[in-house]
Amino acid sequence: MTSRAASPSRLDVAAYVAELAAQPGMTASRLFRILMHDWAASEFEGEKNAVNRVAAEKLGWPKFQDGMPMYRLTPVNGFNVIVPVHANTETIVATVADRIGPDTQAVIELGCGPGRHLFDIRDLVEHRFPHLKYFGTDISDVDLGICRQVAALEPVRAAITFHKFDHLAPDFSFMTGLKNVVFFTCHTIEQVTTITDKLFLGMLAAAETFVCIHEEPVGWQLNDEVLAAVQNNAFPTTPRIVKPFQPVDDYAAAATPVGSRWNLNLVPVLRDLVAQGKIKIERVDKHCSGMHLYNPTTRIVWTRA
Ligand SMILES: C[S@@+](CC[C@H](N)C(=O)[O-])C[C@H]1O[C@@H](n2cnc3c(N)ncnc32)[C@H](O)[C@@H]1O
Repeated sequence: MTSRAASPSRLDVAAYVAELAAQPGMTASRLFRILMHDWAASEFEGEKNAVNRVAAEKLGWPKFQDGMPMYRLTPVNGFNVIVPVHANTETIVATVADRIGPDTQAVIELGCGPGRHLFDIRDLVEHRFPHLKYFGTDISDVDLGICRQVAALEPVRAAITFHKFDHLAPDFSFMTGLKNVVFFTCHTIEQVTTITDKLFLGMLAAAETFVCIHEEPVGWQLNDEVLAAVQNNAFPTTPRIVKPFQPVDDYAAAATPVGSRWNLNLVPVLRDLVAQGKIKIERVDKHCSGMHLYNPTTRIVWTRA
């Protein structure tokens, strides 16, 4: 027996969270630490992670007692690099925390899934900004249920409230009265094949002052050649092989989003809003991080123009 449970698949996360939540002394951060620790094995499972298995073999990575390699490949700042297998190289929590100041009234995650980022952000800033409000939204009742179960573990902490929300029919009434907020999304617009400008116009209408941070697997959409190949149904079916220490390849980066019919148009929609003079893009960090080699994350930060 090892300290690590079998990697929880997407389908049994709710049951696993319920089991963990019932343990004595459980907290939100401890629960997500266990979840992410146990998730490490999934980096070596399935076809898309064959690259990690091959790299582990070829490069002779050391292994844990049950045979799981101690390292994995991951996209970081545009390169496929090797990191400790349990390391979380995502940058969304630090990027959002960096934008919270004394005037910020709320932090709002759209498409929060199990809510892990919001609980992390609260851990980091609650002592400095005790009056900050936290909102999570998602279309999935299962995920909202998980979020509420985790929130209930620490009733004395600043409240995080969770609301049903659809990126395609956005209703921001849950944040009525708030004027200065930080919005963010992480690998959730990815699940909407064709996003419309309603979501972004909704943010513009909902708060006077805000910054919006997306960390989504859309870096390949910045490459006109790859975008045109996708739009013209000419995306190559033979996958590019991911190579350690090499720059992230835009075709490889598009493999999962295109193959899964995930989001194909976030960048064009944001560019259109820039052209209309409605928003301005502060920064774009292509393939900045990510859990999966064929689905690297790109950071896009924008505000009202
Ligand atoms: C991969 S999970 C990411 C969750 C979270 N942001 C994270 O990084 O842990 C994607 C989430 O997007 C949500 N989602 C998918 N389509 C959505 C939509 N149209 N509106 C709102 N949420 C949606 C899913 O229910 C799921 O919880």
